[in-house]
Amino acid sequence: MSGFSADWLGLRAGADGRARNAALAARLAGHFAERTGGLRIVDLGAGSGNNMAATAPLLGPAQHWVLADADAGLLARARARAPRGATVELQLTDLACGVGALLRPAPDLVTASAFFDLCGAAWIERFADALAVSGAALYTVLSYDGREVWEPAFAGDAAALSAFHADQRRDKGLGPAMGPDAHDHLARCLAARGYRVEEGPSDWALEAPRDAALIAALAEGSAAAVRPALGRAAGDWWTVRKGAARVVIGHKDLLALPPG
Ligand SMILES: C[S@@+](CC[C@H](N)C(=O)[O-])C[C@H]1O[C@@H](n2cnc3c(N)ncnc32)[C@H](O)[C@@H]1O
Repeated sequence: MSGFSADWLGLRAGADGRARNAALAARLAGHFAERTGGLRIVDLGAGSGNNMAATAPLLGPAQHWVLADADAGLLARARARAPRGATVELQLTDLACGVGALLRPAPDLVTASAFFDLCGAAWIERFADALAVSGAALYTVLSYDGREVWEPAFAGDAAALSAFHADQRRDKGLGPAMGPDAHDHLARCLAARGYRVEEGPSDWALEAPRDAALIAALAEGSAAAVRPALGRAAGDWWTVRKGAARVVIGHKDLLALPPG
């Protein structure tokens, strides 16, 4: 029901893992390193568990994960990937209804991957309010920031990117999506609530042949949005894009620690 297939999430997992910002990951690990008790972690838009799999090794041994998503099939896959020694709780929920119930009892950490760019401005503001009330830290990775470089370049690249960004801003159920602007809005909202915000790049650096399937899937994923903008050049664009040798897709990671 979410429109994110397990195949797509599986295809991007390797690139996501390579792209995660290492300095922020180390800061997260350091923040919780002294903790003696267990950690309660809420993963928003958890999908098939990619974020849990990549984040769990940064945290201590006693972890309880609350995986929230609207797609029961993806959550079932995530359950099968529970980190060794961790407990996992599935919350099948439409996050359009807010996160309040997920943050009671208050978690130590809220996390998300490739999620906040789907959210609208008002949803992000309500989320920041709820997070501040809970006092939890936030670690969110791989928010799309709008930068793209495709090699070889194509004459219609600028028009294609602009059409893709317009499509990114469609309402996906959480208000008109902020797409490339979501990360900065989230950072501002958290800073305004007293959070100490650190950010860093987590760009995908894709290369054929290693990432050829992901490159082709990216081209395919934006084709419907881009074709009307390119008109008769759309066919050539499609041929060049799906066979690209190198692609950089800009993402950002963010760690926000609560006041005090
Ligand atoms: C791009 S996927 C990322 C999945 C996972 N975090 C990862 O990195 O592989 C976005 C996820 O958000 C979930 N999602 C989108 N809108 C949602 C909503 N309104 N309520 C709950 N989950 C939602 C989708 O089902 C999907 O699993």
